[in-house]
Amino acid sequence: MRNIFILKNNFKFKKYNLNEVDESVFSTEYDDSSWKNVSVPHDWGIEGDFSEDNDATYSMIVQDGMTKPEKQTGRTGGLPIVGEGVYRTWFQIDDVEKAFLEFDGIMRESVIYINGKKVGGCHFGYLSFEVDITNYVKKGTNLLAVHAIVYPDSSRWYSGGGLYRNVRLITKPSSYIKYNGVWVRQIYVDEKSALFDITIDYEGTTGFTAKITDPNGTVTELSSNDNKASYFIDNPILWDVNKPNLYTAQITIDSGDSITTRFGVRKTEFTKDGFFLNDRYLKMNGVCLHHDTGSIGAAINRSALLRQLQIMKEMGVNALRTSHNPPATELLDLCDELGILVIDEFFDEWRNKKVENGYSKNFNDHALKDVESIVCRDRNHPSVIMWSIGNEIGEQWQEDGWKVARMFADKTKEIDPTRPITAGLDWYPHCFDNRIAFYVDVVGLNYKPHLYKEVKEKYPNILLYGSETASCISTRGVYKLPAKIDISLSKNDDLTISDYGLCAPPWAYFPERELSNQKDNPNVMGEFIWTGFDYLGEPTPYYSEWPSRSSYFGVVDLAGLPKNRYYLYKSAWTDTPTLHIFPHWNWKGVEGQTVPVHIYTNYDKVELFINGISQGIRTHKIDGNDDISHVERFRLMWNDTKYEPGEICAVAYKNGKEMERKTIYTAGEPYAIELSKYYNEINADGESLNYITAKIVDKNGNLCPNACSLLTFSANGTVEVYATDAGDQRETEAFLRPDKKSLSGMLVCCVRNNGKQGKATVSCSGNGLLSSSVDFECI
Ligand code: GAL
Repeated sequence: MRNIFILKNNFKFKKYNLNEVDESVFSTEYDDSSWKNVSVPHDWGIEGDFSEDNDATYSMIVQDGMTKPEKQTGRTGGLPIVGEGVYRTWFQIDDVEKAFLEFDGIMRESVIYINGKKVGGCHFGYLSFEVDITNYVKKGTNLLAVHAIVYPDSSRWYSGGGLYRNVRLITKPSSYIKYNGVWVRQIYVDEKSALFDITIDYEGTTGFTAKITDPNGTVTELSSNDNKASYFIDNPILWDVNKPNLYTAQITIDSGDSITTRFGVRKTEFTKDGFFLNDRYLKMNGVCLHHDTGSIGAAINRSALLRQLQIMKEMGVNALRTSHNPPATELLDLCDELGILVIDEFFDEWRNKKVENGYSKNFNDHALKDVESIVCRDRNHPSVIMWSIGNEIGEQWQEDGWKVARMFADKTKEIDPTRPITAGLDWYPHCFDNRIAFYVDVVGLNYKPHLYKEVKEKYPNILLYGSETASCISTRGVYKLPAKIDISLSKNDDLTISDYGLCAPPWAYFPERELSNQKDNPNVMGEFIWTGFDYLGEPTPYYSEWPSRSSYFGVVDLAGLPKNRYYLYKSAWTDTPTLHIFPHWNWKGVEGQTVPVHIYTNYDKVELFINGISQGIRTHKIDGNDDISHVERFRLMWNDTKYEPGEICAVAYKNGKEMERKTIYTAGEPYAIELSKYYNEINADGESLNYITAKIVDKNGNLCPNACSLLTFSANGTVEVYATDAGDQRETEAFLRPDKKSLSGMLVCCVRNNGKQGKATVSCSGNGLLSSSVDFECI
């Protein structure tokens, strides 16, 4: 029998400066009673405090126009990730034949000790690995100690630190199924039939049985005398982005050791005419996401990830690029369940370094083994459709850079011949000239929509998509006038960027340019926006302007609140009727002056009224190839409108018929707090989260769009306040506090179940405002 214990609670933790850890802390005798109690997954950086000296680097980013090294402050989030951490926990073992520890990832370099003895470790924070501890454990109580180190300048974004993913203790019989030892490989599929090979990697036995349950619950039993079985399906129930049907295979060997894995039946075709899923042409409406989940940092949490992905799906997202590293398995499980296609990416750098202590240090010793381990772990997930061997790797410049690409292509295909490989390439035409682009099956180009036609004409058989697109920057709900396209690194004194959605750094562009080129090039398989959510670190363009410490790139802010362009994608990517007007209509001091009004909609035409007076009708333009034509293809603009307090009203028509109208009023003084909850109920498991959004409204319930008030949350019953975040890239109050200033009238509180079932109540108050509370159930 196999027993799985997730090691979650009862960890002791201590953070040290680099080189301060003394070996005695790993021994069974060491007294850790003064250490902090933590539960795992745990990210040691997220508690704060923010400081401009946390992981500041002095470097020169040539692409961004720097001519000398500058102090870059918020580059990895301005949080205390650098240093060493030690975790200690005691666990029980009975009489067992085999015992293993499985780590889904430890940030960033780690060494594992059992009862004071070194038993393993890992050099790469995003890698899952197992350690055989059979010879080091005894019946009774045993000590696990984990030593993790995050060096300065080891990442281009926030990495977090420590045991940020799950840890499992697994006991098995002496003949057992190995780690990642089940591979359900799709051999063939059409509408009527599918064939799979099931291959088992096991120790000390021959043969296995497989109990396969289809999405309708019908069970098929198979058995094999060796390590392979073949499973033929009549009328397979396909996995698709709209219907993510999953099969389950329970594999059992003679000793009773058994594991269950899920898989899906789907046909993916990458062609020079585009991408096809189950014989249907499908544009990939994708996003790139880093691994942090905002205010809770890098610590993996299913409910936080589910919320992120649901918010993305609602915008029309059907694909995700796990930039620039292998994700947590929980993320892939969710993508399997939600129907999101995944590009599983291996690395941000190969031998050529981007940061001083990045993966290039490990490349020669580990790269091929790491690729093998990533692919073996993730290849049963139906959501994974491509392996990306790297992002903007420096080898694009090197004449023999193709050798590394070929090495990865060969290795990846040896382990998984069923999926194509790709890479995010940005140095065009060098990446073609030096052949790297030809060693990947599907070419991902970063920020090159204007070249899609050219590339396709030059290399008609190349399979192409936009692996990284847009990089539009903004701060939610903040506006700067005039509203104009600004492709530069221009800055504002208040360290915000206008939410008109027209700003981007020089290598990038406003979102409509990509949308337009994608429409005109159906043979390009789609795009992956940089990024779906804001993330910690990389506060372009404010590299050195503390306190900017998180990115401005997200379509959704760090707190999970949509910026305006969320509705641009929603109107372009979904059939959900969308009518989104911006900016707000509270412009005290600019009465009589020009305040442009823009609308994202998928209705045919819209008439705009200001205080009842028509400002004219607009429809989407479809001709022209210059910047403004791209914009006008996807947004309606009234650029000469003058501000006067009152109301702006948009009336939308389809086929000549009025379909919807929306009004934004000039809000009065802040009066009350309105709360809304993300989940109606959450699990009573001691780790599930809910997200409560506070809105500051006037007497009539209008959002006060400029309100920046200190709000305080409290919770009772079955949840505790965990973190607060307004999505403000400049906020330096620690996340894990119950109070924070709102941004553009809004603030989000993350609450965590305390292990109890029943009613949870979350309340919010602020000076001079009517308080409010909201209830939900923990089940
Ligand atoms: C790309 C890079 C991303 C991110 C982005 C910002 O070049 O691949 O990781 O840095 O730029 O625009």
